[in-house]
Amino acid sequence: MPLHVIDHPLARHYMTILRDRDTQHQDFRVAADRLTQFLAIEATRGLADEGVKIKTPLETMEGSRLAEKIVIVPILRAGLGMLQVFVDLLPEVAVGYVGMERDAATAEAASYYCKLPPLEGRRALVIDPMLATGGSAEAVIERLHQSGASAVDMACILAAPEGVERLEKSFPEVQIFTAALDRELNAKAYILPGLGDFGDRLYGT
Ligand code: PRP
Ligand code: URA
Repeated sequence: MPLHVIDHPLARHYMTILRDRDTQHQDFRVAADRLTQFLAIEATRGLADEGVKIKTPLETMEGSRLAEKIVIVPILRAGLGMLQVFVDLLPEVAVGYVGMERDAATAEAASYYCKLPPLEGRRALVIDPMLATGGSAEAVIERLHQSGASAVDMACILAAPEGVERLEKSFPEVQIFTAALDRELNAKAYILPGLGDFGDRLYGT
């Protein structure tokens, strides 16, 4: 399974802002947005395009336009923080929502909401800032496959090796795009060195 880790000084800069415990709500949101922009560019690199004839003010030329409509699936709640960047970038994008919450004691993810557009034969991209044990992403990817998605990829801001390995085992063909790959999970399944609870820091809960 291909793992793509963004390698860019600006991504490291914004990741450090996210990680810093003293970063306040507003700056956290801005840094998350910037990192999502990098991820959106990388995760859409493989989209199909097609030639289109246009006239510039000077002459006729063969341009290019997107020939594939993908479905973006944010995992609620924290994944919502990445959604706007993708919606702004992608023409005619469809959005599916899946709510997943980890149990505080066991870190087991359970689904509490699901609303998906037609997926038959379409490519889906799951977005969630944190890939920790991989339980939330695994459940959502499974659901998208069952709904007929032709391919599913995953974009996250921060990944743990445990989550990457889990997805690799379950779905060897899924591509993971992340802005950083951290060391390990702690006993409570939080990513180390990590950035804490993304949803809480993004929404101030
Ligand atoms: C966080 C995060 C992921 C999940 C990752 O969500 O946004 O969805 O944990 O952990 P996993 O890989 O071990 O499943 P959380 O359950 O805290 O809910 P929230 O988005 O509502 O904050
Ligand atoms: N979810 C988070 O928000 N942070 C972690 O470190 C792990 C899961």
